[in-house]
Amino acid sequence: MSEVLVLDHPLIQHKLALLRDKRTGPKDFRELLDELSMLMAYEVTRHLPTEEVEVETPVGVARCRVVTGLHLALIPILRAGLGMVNGILRLVPTAKVGHIGLYRDHDTLQPVAYYCKLPPDLAQREVIVLDPMLATGGSAAEAVHLIRRQGARSIRLMCLVAAPEGIEVFHRAHPDVPIYTAAVDQCLNEKGYIVPGLGDAGDRLFGTR
Ligand code: PRP
Ligand code: URA
Repeated sequence: MSEVLVLDHPLIQHKLALLRDKRTGPKDFRELLDELSMLMAYEVTRHLPTEEVEVETPVGVARCRVVTGLHLALIPILRAGLGMVNGILRLVPTAKVGHIGLYRDHDTLQPVAYYCKLPPDLAQREVIVLDPMLATGGSAAEAVHLIRRQGARSIRLMCLVAAPEGIEVFHRAHPDVPIYTAAVDQCLNEKGYIVPGLGDAGDRLFGTR
């Protein structure tokens, strides 16, 4: 079974509460998602290796640690995953960004792929897949299949709100891929929405409701 890491830092939980609120409009939704992604990136990148270097300060020589060979690839699932990219890029500006376009068919809830453009050297990169919602799990599982097909070996999934059903489906498809989330909610409703969730993340982010 892959790990599920629920990031319960007070700032993450506070901002998630604001994001969930139905009165939060697209401008604030975008800003909150951006801030949440930056805060969550702190945990999602915790495993990155570091090495010791010496740095000359104005006063002496400090032994410091720097991240070695930081080769990250951020892969947002369109559309809502786009809202999670910039917060992480501000911390790791050298990360490459790939894009996977998927939407859920309204009737079957199955993911339909319409775009895939990934960095060519995925086998050498630490991959972080970005999508705020893990509902049935179909979109994230399909995205990771596409990413593996291009050679990626080290993959993490970063979402904001996960349903137990989605975690189960994703686990079965990719037991070695850890899931980082800010919350595990109750269930899915009959339309495949996470309850209580936050509604349609893409529509709230881009104001297309
Ligand atoms: C949403 C969300 C995920 C997907 C999750 O995208 O951003 O990608 O649903 O659902 P699942 O776990 O059941 O697959 P949506 O299909 O609404 O596409 P959009 O972002 O383009 O609106
Ligand atoms: N996609 C969303 O944007 N929200 C949900 O609750 C489920 C899927």
